[in-house]
Amino acid sequence: MIVTLDEAIQRLLMGEIVALPTETVYGLAASIKHPQAIEQIFARKGRPANNPLIIHLSDFREIAEFVREVPPDFEKLAQTFWPGPLTVVLPLKDLFCVPERVRAGLPTAAFRIPNQKQTLEIVRKAGPLVMPSANRSGKPSSTHPAHIAEDFGVDFPVLDGGSCSLGLESTILYYQHEGLQHEGWRIIREGSLSSEKFFPILGYRPLIEGPSKKENPICPGQYYRHYAPKAKLYLLSDQFPDHSLIIGFEDREYPVNSKVLSLGPFSKPETVAANLYKVLRQLDEIGIKEAYVDVNFVPEGLYATIAERLHKASDSVDTEWTRKIKK
Ligand code: TXA
Ligand code: MG
Repeated sequence: MIVTLDEAIQRLLMGEIVALPTETVYGLAASIKHPQAIEQIFARKGRPANNPLIIHLSDFREIAEFVREVPPDFEKLAQTFWPGPLTVVLPLKDLFCVPERVRAGLPTAAFRIPNQKQTLEIVRKAGPLVMPSANRSGKPSSTHPAHIAEDFGVDFPVLDGGSCSLGLESTILYYQHEGLQHEGWRIIREGSLSSEKFFPILGYRPLIEGPSKKENPICPGQYYRHYAPKAKLYLLSDQFPDHSLIIGFEDREYPVNSKVLSLGPFSKPETVAANLYKVLRQLDEIGIKEAYVDVNFVPEGLYATIAERLHKASDSVDTEWTRKIKK
């Protein structure tokens, strides 16, 4: 059910949950001041309690309400990338400034300022808002209002912002203080901002944190199976079987007897990123049981994030290529 901007604000202020567009993916929003709305988010998503939520703000000065000291270069990062597809995990000044449920018991919280005009206005008037991606846990994120109806039913309130311009979630950074490891910013979830985008600001590319340990994950969400359609996905770089369904690129050739779902032109990674979840969701819509994905590319720039998402979406399906990128 499409709602207007004013209705979305009213619902949030009354303690209801609403799906909102952002430039990355749609979010399932609740006011941080309404515990029962936060409960509803976990329930409707089927989200494990140990997976914390991102707090969405409208102005980076609001950070002072939550954090006493910020890590080096935080201000430069915020000024460069906010509003935009960056989330930063910061240590809290005390545990009372963020509900325990939101931070899943951690002494930190994740913050982001989204770059979507209508949603920024809503955050300004009804925020801070917690906003996980608007999908049932484990499924591909929603990048269009139709995906919200698929996961939560046609009566679920959503503000229509059309298709998300980026289509992949925000990149999550956290600051590793000196210890056993090198001090500096780390990427704990790859996203719409690839690691080289940080070089001009930090003077180095943040390390990408490998798969988390189950007992003590740095980014709890990274532990779970994710972004996955019901269909089994096989990642291949060539020799696609005959009569198969291939997720591929419009500027490449595939066996003539195959059916191809196009991610867009290979030469335009931004378009491929924006189409990825739409195409993965299409598999379930048309009832496909298995599909082959063309992964004949070097996982660099946005293609690093695309590779990571495809790897998670294909779960345990192990091919030569997935073994290669796991290293
Ligand atoms: O682009 C996005 O980030 C979207 C839009 C709606 O803003 N949101 C999003 O939220 O992707 P979600 O809940 O699907 O993913 C949030 C990720 C999870 O992997 C979670 O574990 C991690 O952020 N996270 C949240 N708080 C954290 C914290 N304090 N420490 C480490 N990771 C945290
Ligand atoms: Mg998510």
